[in-house]
Amino acid sequence: MTSGLHPGPVLVLLWALLRGSDETCPSMCLCTSDTVSCASSGLSKLPRSLPSSAMALDLSFNHLSWLTHGSFNGMPRLEALRMSHNQVATLGQGVFQNTSSLRHLDLSSNKLHVVEQHYFKGLWRLEELLLFNNKITQVEGDTLNGLSSLKKVYFSLNQITDFPFFSIREHRHPFLTMLDLSSNRLTTLPWEDVKSLPGMVQKGLFLHNNSLVCECSMYSVFWHWERRGYDSLSDFMDDHTCMIHGDARSSIRFLRHSRFFQNCSVEKTVAMPMTVLLSSVVVTEGERVSLDCQTSLSNATPSFTWLSPSQGYITPTSINDTLISLFANGTLEISAAKVNDSGLYVCTAVDLKRMLNATREVNVTVAQPPPESFNTGYTTLLGCAVSLVLILMYLYLTPCQCGCCKQPQPPPVVRIPTNDSSTFTSIFSPSVDHEERTKFQDRHVAFMEPVLEEEQNGFLKASEAQSVMQ
Ligand SMILES: *[C@@H]1O[C@H](CO)[C@@H](O)[C@H](O)[C@H]1NC(C)=O
Ligand SMILES: *[C@@H]1O[C@H](CO)[C@@H](O)[C@H](O)[C@H]1NC(C)=O
Ligand SMILES: *[C@@H]1O[C@H](CO)[C@@H](O)[C@H](O)[C@H]1NC(C)=O
Ligand SMILES: *[C@@H]1O[C@H](CO)[C@@H](O)[C@H](O)[C@H]1NC(C)=O
Ligand SMILES: *[C@@H]1O[C@H](CO)[C@@H](O)[C@H](O)[C@H]1NC(C)=O
Ligand SMILES: *[C@@H]1O[C@H](CO)[C@@H](O)[C@H](O)[C@H]1NC(C)=O
Ligand SMILES: *[C@@H]1O[C@H](CO)[C@@H](O)[C@H](O)[C@H]1NC(C)=O
Ligand SMILES: *[C@@H]1O[C@H](CO)[C@@H](O)[C@H](O)[C@H]1NC(C)=O
Repeated sequence: MTSGLHPGPVLVLLWALLRGSDETCPSMCLCTSDTVSCASSGLSKLPRSLPSSAMALDLSFNHLSWLTHGSFNGMPRLEALRMSHNQVATLGQGVFQNTSSLRHLDLSSNKLHVVEQHYFKGLWRLEELLLFNNKITQVEGDTLNGLSSLKKVYFSLNQITDFPFFSIREHRHPFLTMLDLSSNRLTTLPWEDVKSLPGMVQKGLFLHNNSLVCECSMYSVFWHWERRGYDSLSDFMDDHTCMIHGDARSSIRFLRHSRFFQNCSVEKTVAMPMTVLLSSVVVTEGERVSLDCQTSLSNATPSFTWLSPSQGYITPTSINDTLISLFANGTLEISAAKVNDSGLYVCTAVDLKRMLNATREVNVTVAQPPPESFNTGYTTLLGCAVSLVLILMYLYLTPCQCGCCKQPQPPPVVRIPTNDSSTFTSIFSPSVDHEERTKFQDRHVAFMEPVLEEEQNGFLKASEAQSVMQ
């Protein structure tokens, strides 16, 4: 044994010190293994040090009015931050620096008035953003850019007069299914931008209880949504009002009383849609997967980008993985799929000449190989061996030419059935059956609803494919 201080106790002491400074629970909070609750604690500023291990932090019902640069710097694992019912009026630059794990952010019932474009920068994992019941009048154009995991965003109960619909695009927000803008002060919307929102966003767009001005372009959008049976309309039938000539005293429930719109003329249907076709494919681990990107733009020569759950964006120039190829026709091939490769693949075809995009989604499920495949192989092998012995016995060492000892087969190629052009025609062209057309013309309304062949090949879902709405 050596003399002097033994390293063990020193390390323990050091560890205790570090732990002591890092992991203390602020006195007014309650801490468990991975959650910290400082709700209703009368806080007017953030506690000096918060446990770095926390995945959830609750600061709701306090008096916080200001958050500075790197407020949550020491909390790299933070996934949920609840700050509702505080007095926060602005967020400084870099408040959420080093919190890129954040998935749920609740800033509802605060005093925010402008949502500036830097507010949520870097939160690319953010799925839910709650901003309802603030004093928001404006949302800056680039605010939601880069938040590519967004699923639900709530802006209701504010004073928003215009919203950057143009910034919401399929390739930027492939998972967005809820955009709540109800109970604001929207009067006239850029309806062309609204109509080119991704289909799933239109379905989850809530616009009731605003100050909309009655106009044909507005009515035609809602008329179309109503025909698609969106819950946003049926659940809030009476809260959809518009003001005749922009006069608040003469507002009508336009989903109930549509007579005002009887003179609206029929808009021309635009043939080029922004459409998502959802297909799905199930393969076994190790198989080759070939995903095609056949969209309405395939006749032109668009450029293709894939968004993969495991690899992020894949473009012809970004590939440095020999297991993946992206062909000029947009087909993405994974030569040996792994379970990790499962998920939603989104292909965007961009025709730069005509400024048109089309999107294609494929849900890939890679399953573990079933154990019985080994047994089958084993049985075959055994059968082969027995035959061989029998043949040898009868033919006295004649060489085996029975073909039972097969060459191993190359891995099977799994292809998504290419939707034939008739499918596309039925979706994209304004073919309307006679009865629908008659109804349509009777009502003098702008939309033509394409008739969808029901779940053709089991791959196309009508509701998903219906973002054709010009
Ligand atoms: C926070 O992130 C910055 C870069 O974004 C990095 O330089 C810094 O070390 C990080 N701080 C902590 C405490 O992790
Ligand atoms: C409509 O919006 C106003 C504020 O703009 C709000 O006070 C009211 O509660 C909302 N009504 C409904 C039914 O949501
Ligand atoms: C629709 O047009 C008819 C005939 O031009 C007119 O009498 C009627 O007032 C118009 N209705 C509305 C709501 O503008
Ligand atoms: C492939 O590219 C990514 C990002 O561009 C990089 O992080 C990674 O190290 C590269 N891998 C190889 C094998 O070059
Ligand atoms: C795309 O090109 C690849 C390689 O040339 C080919 O294997 C594949 O069948 C093509 N896909 C379509 C849909 O034409
Ligand atoms: C696949 O996922 C497992 C666990 O989810 C992880 O440990 C592994 O590193 C992943 N492999 C690759 C190649 O990403
Ligand atoms: C198509 O996507 C590109 C980026 O991929 C974007 O710059 C462009 O604005 C999009 N065009 C339309 C019409 O959405
Ligand atoms: C993809 O398929 C899996 C299993 O088939 C399913 O659990 C998942 O919800 C699907 N995802 C989407 C986005 O449809």
